Amino acid sequence: MKLLSKSIHTTHLNCTLSEEHIKRYEHVISALHYKLEQASELTGWLHYPQQNHDALLTQIEQVSAEIRQEADVLIVVGVGGSFLGARAILDALTPYFGRQMQGIEVIYVGQNMSGAYINQLLKYIVDKRVYVNVISKSGGTMEPALAFRAMRQYMEGKYGEQEAARRIIVTTDAEKGILKGIADKAGYRQFVIPDDIGGRFSVLTPVGLLPVAAADIDIRALMAGAKQAAEELDEPSLEHNDAYKYAVMRHILYKEGYKIELLASFEPSLNKFHEWWKQLFGESEGKDKKGLYPSTVNFSTDLHSIGQFIQDGSPILFETLLHFQSIQSDFTVNNDLRDEDGLNYLAGRTFNEINALSKQGTALAHAEGGVPVIQLELPKLDAFHLGYLIYFFMKACAISAYLLDVNPFDQPGVEAYKKKMLELLDK
Ligand code: PA5
Repeated sequence: MKLLSKSIHTTHLNCTLSEEHIKRYEHVISALHYKLEQASELTGWLHYPQQNHDALLTQIEQVSAEIRQEADVLIVVGVGGSFLGARAILDALTPYFGRQMQGIEVIYVGQNMSGAYINQLLKYIVDKRVYVNVISKSGGTMEPALAFRAMRQYMEGKYGEQEAARRIIVTTDAEKGILKGIADKAGYRQFVIPDDIGGRFSVLTPVGLLPVAAADIDIRALMAGAKQAAEELDEPSLEHNDAYKYAVMRHILYKEGYKIELLASFEPSLNKFHEWWKQLFGESEGKDKKGLYPSTVNFSTDLHSIGQFIQDGSPILFETLLHFQSIQSDFTVNNDLRDEDGLNYLAGRTFNEINALSKQGTALAHAEGGVPVIQLELPKLDAFHLGYLIYFFMKACAISAYLLDVNPFDQPGVEAYKKKMLELLDK
């Protein structure tokens, strides 16, 4: 399959996917393309990157400059789609060590109900200057609501009500929800989550943009990448749309009996990006007893654990290898006169080069072992290409769900546990 767009290259190796088989979906896909275009609810994300958000981006940049100036720590309160995207981008684009050196340390809370976590967090920030960004579209989700109650009391105790109000920024619905009411009453600054964009499709709105900008990541480059994707992937023809090809490949494999998709990367900074992807696909597709189970691995680490199962175990999964050709920072293997470890044959090569070859070797070995392998390749791990990839996956996900005839934009199954928990809490 040849390179179509400038920014992503979708291929597959030795699996049940033939070009003929993929092409058979041409008409179905163009019908689904128009179905998505015409869908009336929660598709605001579809053309969002193509709209002019200059004023909003400027406002976010100003607030984030203020945060970097006046805080050591930004506490981001949110869960699911109101948390995973920001964390994914931040981890992918900030250094592995001393992340706080990049301007600010971003700490997340409200994704769990661990008393130990919140207790230790409040102790950790006691001597630090703090800002809080609480993010919730509904404004009433239990985990962030509980964490925000604790954070708000902490901030008011530390700074007094007036200064706390200046340091708490709320990202929520324009009109409804408990959080909106709290924010209005207390006079907190607010960013709006567009009404027609659901949680897991909202990373490119203030939900993801404010925390990311606070860490000094170039949100304009991120949005430019997403815009390029929105333009290139607005193509109804399967033949010319890499997102649709990816959707069709995984759908064919699902129909062939593979029930697990393993997203694999070779850069550990993408671990949280995997989590974002997992939520996007799992919550969008897993309905009506249908859908691929989205799972993730990080190579080469996991080649020394679950790699055995992938190569040789039950044939229930296929792999999607995500690869960025260029990673900003690298390290060269030096010659060593002793050569006691016998590694001089690698002298002069870089770690990233070796890692890329290990990716190639892994793809070949897994394909030979009968594991279908889809490969997604992007030129560079930077804000632009991450923006591109985020949009790519959102578009592929919506079409994948349509291929299964499920609604990508609801999550009825998530309500079940909440109902039981509230009963037990005697609400
Ligand atoms: O994708 C979704 O809609 C969910 O994962 C939500 O983002 C998550 O439940 C958090 O919801 P809220 O932003 O309303 O607190």
